[in-house]
Amino acid sequence: MKYTIENIDELNCRFGESEPVEVLRHFMEIYGERLALSSSLSIEDQALTDMMLKIDPHVRIFTLDTGRLFPETYQLMDKTNLHYNIKMEVFCPKTESLQCFVHEYGINPFYESIEKRHACCQVRKLEPLARAFQGLEVWVCGLRKAQSVTRTDMRMVEWDERHGLLKINPLIHWTEEQVWDYIKNNHVPYNQLHDKDYPSIGCEPCTRAVKPGEDIRSGRWWWENPEHRECGLHRQ
Ligand code: ADX
Ligand code: SF4
Repeated sequence: MKYTIENIDELNCRFGESEPVEVLRHFMEIYGERLALSSSLSIEDQALTDMMLKIDPHVRIFTLDTGRLFPETYQLMDKTNLHYNIKMEVFCPKTESLQCFVHEYGINPFYESIEKRHACCQVRKLEPLARAFQGLEVWVCGLRKAQSVTRTDMRMVEWDERHGLLKINPLIHWTEEQVWDYIKNNHVPYNQLHDKDYPSIGCEPCTRAVKPGEDIRSGRWWWENPEHRECGLHRQ
């Protein structure tokens, strides 16, 4: 049985409060290689990587290498591949598009305006994401409601209108503490920057450390208003 947009409400009734592993197992059994985790190497995605590989060691996991990630993130990519004996799929921006973009806007235009920031995310993340989606029917993400004001309305199972895909957020109800407990209890490798006050990590020029008590995503695109702090991956 394959699900469509028509099934979203019924799927949320059935799985809305389920444990992440139960949700993952259900969709992984039905969709196989037409399902993939998109991993930013965050603690959420590392926990999902661990859960999913324990269910199926051949599950698809891909990451978008924007070319502007932290050295620590690339180290974690390597460490994760070695730890689980996998080869994460890596999608990079198209050389031609990137060269045109940099030629027109400069190398660091994102601080100048939201439009320029979105244009950078378009070339470095969204276009590669569209390529990663080829042949895919289910997109697994590490989104949590508690992460941000922009994420409180998200649900366990969603329909991604833009790409025509089923989107699953198995950790949607988890707290940051629950994710850390999973990471520690299962000896899951994590980004060393988390030990240096970086709770949420994206591209290096668009991420900074946060002070104690500050919101976990306040270090992402910190110069913008909180309601704008999404890169377009999760905007409908
Ligand atoms: S972002 O939109 O602000 O960058 P965030 O870092 O919170 O997103 O990650 C949320 C989810 O988006 C991740 O759990 C992951 O599924 C997906 N994601 C974000 N960045 C990437 C990336 N570089 N590669 C693959 N997936 C990503
Ligand atoms: Fe560009 Fe920053 Fe978006 Fe990364 S997060 S793609 S550097 S604007």
